[in-house]
Amino acid sequence: MIYFDHNATTPMHPEALEMMHCSLREVVGNPSSVHRFGRQARGAIERARTEVAALIGAYSDELLFTAGGTESDHLALHGAAWLQRHKDSHRRRIVLSPLEHPAVLGAAQALGKAGFELVFAKVSSDGTLVQQSLIDAIDESTALVSLQLANHELGNLYPLGLLVEHAHHVGALFHTDAVQAAGKVAVDVHALDVDLASFSAHKIYGPKGAGALYARRGLLLEPLLAGGHQERGQRPGTENVAALVGFGKAAKLGVAHAADWREHVTALRDRFEGGAAKLGARVNGSKLRVGNTCNLAFDGVDGELLVESLDLAGVAASTGAACTSGSREPSPVLLALGQSRRQALLAVRFSFGRENSSEEVDHVLHILPPIIERIRSA
Ligand SMILES: Cc1ncc(COP(=O)(O)O)c(C=O)c1O
Repeated sequence: MIYFDHNATTPMHPEALEMMHCSLREVVGNPSSVHRFGRQARGAIERARTEVAALIGAYSDELLFTAGGTESDHLALHGAAWLQRHKDSHRRRIVLSPLEHPAVLGAAQALGKAGFELVFAKVSSDGTLVQQSLIDAIDESTALVSLQLANHELGNLYPLGLLVEHAHHVGALFHTDAVQAAGKVAVDVHALDVDLASFSAHKIYGPKGAGALYARRGLLLEPLLAGGHQERGQRPGTENVAALVGFGKAAKLGVAHAADWREHVTALRDRFEGGAAKLGARVNGSKLRVGNTCNLAFDGVDGELLVESLDLAGVAASTGAACTSGSREPSPVLLALGQSRRQALLAVRFSFGRENSSEEVDHVLHILPPIIERIRSA
């Protein structure tokens, strides 16, 4: 099998897996217990917190552990929006982009039903955000701006600096979904100057079901859940110690090796994209992209059929976000770029990872032409 779907999830790094096994076997205590078993579990979590903080340029006391990127996004949006509105009832606006992950869009829609006003950025055909539309939208009534750092389907990277500055100037909080950026570009939350940033372990060779929300020092969110003191009362519930240990180890490996992995996957992606262009592929997305992602369309070749044919040939790719694949609805991201339904249904995303090789890339480029021909002539 060849796995080219690392934006959906990454296979766990063996060393992170080993740490989790160890933790499950040996760490028996509840991290909130005062006895030595509890202290051992607490120590494991705090080590993991330091490791994840190091990957993203945060202080460890600025990280709230969650059960993944989706929860981090929800905690950020609900927590920040209500915090702002309770301070000032006129702050009812949330500014975001239509290209956000369903986790952010879902949280925003729930807030919309609760009386917040949602204002979306304008987007150009390559997925670039029209900066002026955001500057115009972010005003004194804005509670929160939420814009991703990297797009899950296109790989587009978004320079946020000017927008963060403008948001802070008018008193709005700024959240970025950095789930697809971590490990793929150097992320430094302090340099970005955002107030909140979401991360997920399973996109950086850690386990599924673990994530983190960076919340700038001193920012106390309104919690989604009540009834426990864990994570400074902002995310109650007994921690998933082993998963967090795996997250920490994956982050530590990222600090040590991510720059090399980035160079490796970028070379693979460019090799693949160059080969695919010779087969007539069009690229969806902008020039400013993370190094591992390429979203392609071949005229007259249905994306879903291509993904299924590749799967039969032992190759895993995707038509878009994992949660929308399996359905015949075109990707909302591509529709937001102004593509027609028919056009959007052609898209296939290939996303590379550290264990992929140029032989795999060449093999897929070799099997693509007959598959494309077969689909076109069916
Ligand atoms: C940009 C982005 N945000 C959030 C998520 C959700 O993360 P998780 O799967 O950990 O809930 C994903 C996962 O695909 C993502 O790509």
